[in-house]
Amino acid sequence: MRQYELILTKNMMQPGYTGLREEYERAGGYQALRKVLGKIPPAGVTELVMKSGLRGRGGAGFPTGVKWGFLPKDYRGPKYLCCNADESEPGTFKDRQLMERDPHQLLEGMVLAAYAIGAETSYIYIRGEFVLGARILEKAIGEARAAGYIGTNVLGSGITADVWVHRGAGAYICGEETALLESLEGKRGLPRVKPPFPATHGLYGKPTVVNNVETLANLPHIVDRGPEWFASIGSPPKSTGTRVFCVSGHVKRPGNYEVPMGITVRELVYEHAGGMRSDKPLKAFIPGGASAPFLTPEHLDVKLDFESVAQAGSMLGSGGVTVMEEGTSMVWAALRLMEFFYHESCGKCSPCREGSSWLTQTLRRILDGRGRTTDLDTLTELCKNIAGRTVCAFGDAEVAPIESTLKYWRHEYEALIKAAAHHAVDGHGSGSGLLMPAGRH
Ligand SMILES: Cc1cc2nc3c(=O)[nH]c(=O)nc-3n(C[C@H](O)[C@H](O)[C@H](O)COP(=O)(O)O)c2cc1C
Repeated sequence: MRQYELILTKNMMQPGYTGLREEYERAGGYQALRKVLGKIPPAGVTELVMKSGLRGRGGAGFPTGVKWGFLPKDYRGPKYLCCNADESEPGTFKDRQLMERDPHQLLEGMVLAAYAIGAETSYIYIRGEFVLGARILEKAIGEARAAGYIGTNVLGSGITADVWVHRGAGAYICGEETALLESLEGKRGLPRVKPPFPATHGLYGKPTVVNNVETLANLPHIVDRGPEWFASIGSPPKSTGTRVFCVSGHVKRPGNYEVPMGITVRELVYEHAGGMRSDKPLKAFIPGGASAPFLTPEHLDVKLDFESVAQAGSMLGSGGVTVMEEGTSMVWAALRLMEFFYHESCGKCSPCREGSSWLTQTLRRILDGRGRTTDLDTLTELCKNIAGRTVCAFGDAEVAPIESTLKYWRHEYEALIKAAAHHAVDGHGSGSGLLMPAGRH
């Protein structure tokens, strides 16, 4: 198996590493902050991040330095930094590990970002279920504050950079950046119409940056080792650095794997994750969390970088790679994901609110052996009327599993519908022979 230099997960992979402040410092932690404060102006830090080519790890892959650059330069009032630690995308579980196992790496990244954008107050919006992560972060913030890395007059520089943990109440939509801001303000987590964007009208209507945990955790390394070093890793110039890929599903060794962007899916699945769990051939995989369209074995040599995955018809998204073996019913897989989206639709936009219900009902009907010949047209039409017609990208996300399974495995839908028609005539079962949990047939 090919080995690569670990950056974000290096410390936590050391035996006995606890993530406490002294250990982080012993591993070179907080040196980037010392290097910057009083020596590099805030705009210089933004410049470094732009040069590094760092793109957001939360889903959309927006260039981080460019996002920071959208904040009004001459604004004198409060600005905010929000760390998006909601991590609710099915198949994604890297931010949890980054927070629990090396919290100071994230905190150092946050203070660097806060300094660059001029935010005196920063929040970590953490998914409600991450109780351990929230406790660990609270403790780490206490340690960092006691050592002068966080709070007023950080390391004697005169800079104020405070960080607070805010626990969510468990809603996928609160990972969407404007719904996150609403929730942080104490309101119901519903996405806002954009524009205006958070860069000018964010938390409490003030200029705000929202960045993902993994994005922020990269910053100490970029400052410490230089943007040229970072830009040389991965698939430059557009996909630089590593990704912590979360591999789940029918593989021998599910887990988080930090590798340079640009390795192939085949290498990730068959070398790092140990291959298929029962040595059956791979049938399908999602490359970037539940919102990303499914791909097929033909795409095993696609490079895991932003452009290559997009060219293959999907997206790198949150880095959650879910693998399915031969024998899995793709109609059932689509339903499973659709049930999630239906449950999590926030209800603000009618195409998503009503459409997710219709999509779920239609898929259930097909799987329950009551499919109609018109159902595939209904599914296609519904998807068309949802994607691009909602306030946030949730609508696009929920149609991805259906559109992509219809594209590659339409015959499975057709077989179920045909069997249903057969069943209606002579009473036979559907007999699709595909793996589904008990109770589905
Ligand atoms: C429905 C939905 C859920 C999202 N959930 C998350 C999430 O859990 N974590 C995250 O970092 N970004 C999530 N995003 C993306 C955020 O809106 C935003 O783009 C991201 O936090 C920006 O950070 P980045 O630039 O560092 O990637 C979600 C987006 C949508 C539309």
